Amino acid sequence: MSTTFQLDTATSRANPTPAPMKRLTVPKVMQRKKDGVTEEPLVMLTAYTARMAQLLDPHCDMLLVGDSLGQVIYGLPSTLPVTLDMMCAHGAAVVRGSYHSLVVIDMPFGSYEASPQQAFASASRIMAETGAAAVKLEGGTAMAETVSFLSQRGIPVMGHVGLTPQAVNALGGYMARGRSEAEEAKIVADGKALEQAGAFAIVIEGVVEDIAITLTREIAIPTIGIGGSAQCDGQVLVAEDMLGMFERTPRFVKRYNDIAKIISDTAGEYAADVRARSFPGEEQVYKAK
Ligand code: KIV
Repeated sequence: MSTTFQLDTATSRANPTPAPMKRLTVPKVMQRKKDGVTEEPLVMLTAYTARMAQLLDPHCDMLLVGDSLGQVIYGLPSTLPVTLDMMCAHGAAVVRGSYHSLVVIDMPFGSYEASPQQAFASASRIMAETGAAAVKLEGGTAMAETVSFLSQRGIPVMGHVGLTPQAVNALGGYMARGRSEAEEAKIVADGKALEQAGAFAIVIEGVVEDIAITLTREIAIPTIGIGGSAQCDGQVLVAEDMLGMFERTPRFVKRYNDIAKIISDTAGEYAADVRARSFPGEEQVYKAK
């Protein structure tokens, strides 16, 4: 599907052609799973900028403004230094660049763990400043009270269990979770606790496949896998991983392209043109009348 954009000079908003469908809502996303079955899997990708949102939006049901932007955009060593200011700025850009997808914004490390009240202050700021319809936070049973507090106050929450990158220091790395029986039981219990608390969907990241299958079967809300199982109700990937922006990606990522090579080759061609003084060309130069 190809979408073009026309600038509305009155509002400075770039309007897409053809006009997109109405934006998906949280209830509509939840309704995709009926009696434990999701006939049409939910498609989710990360987006951090308005232009990327414009390009991905027609193909997705949900766009995630992930705190992975810390590594992908800012070159940080982990998601831990990501701030609410960053999430609000990128979240607002993605909402402006999208028309159809439900936009979900990650709550950054340190903005929600202290108390349900702290989480409400951060989540309400994110929603007010970005226009997004939902937030995501990491953690299971320990976050259930917070998820309940937020969802009862009009803030839809997507949970995130299994490999939770904000807990990298406690987990000791980014390896797959659920290899022991105790860990498997904990992840399943975490997913169920989030469902009970009112989460509208759950990301299941980096777990042994059986865990993702069990949770998908045993909870009524949609599960979104990333390194989980094809049996999940939907899938999410970091868009830059899927596009091939990086040499190294997690083993669960299918690289659909090699954008890094395309960018590098293109920059190389430009550099060669500049060095040969063949840029700007005749057609790029302004001539006096
Ligand atoms: O931050 C992120 O991009 C995420 C996805 C990997 C699920 O949380």
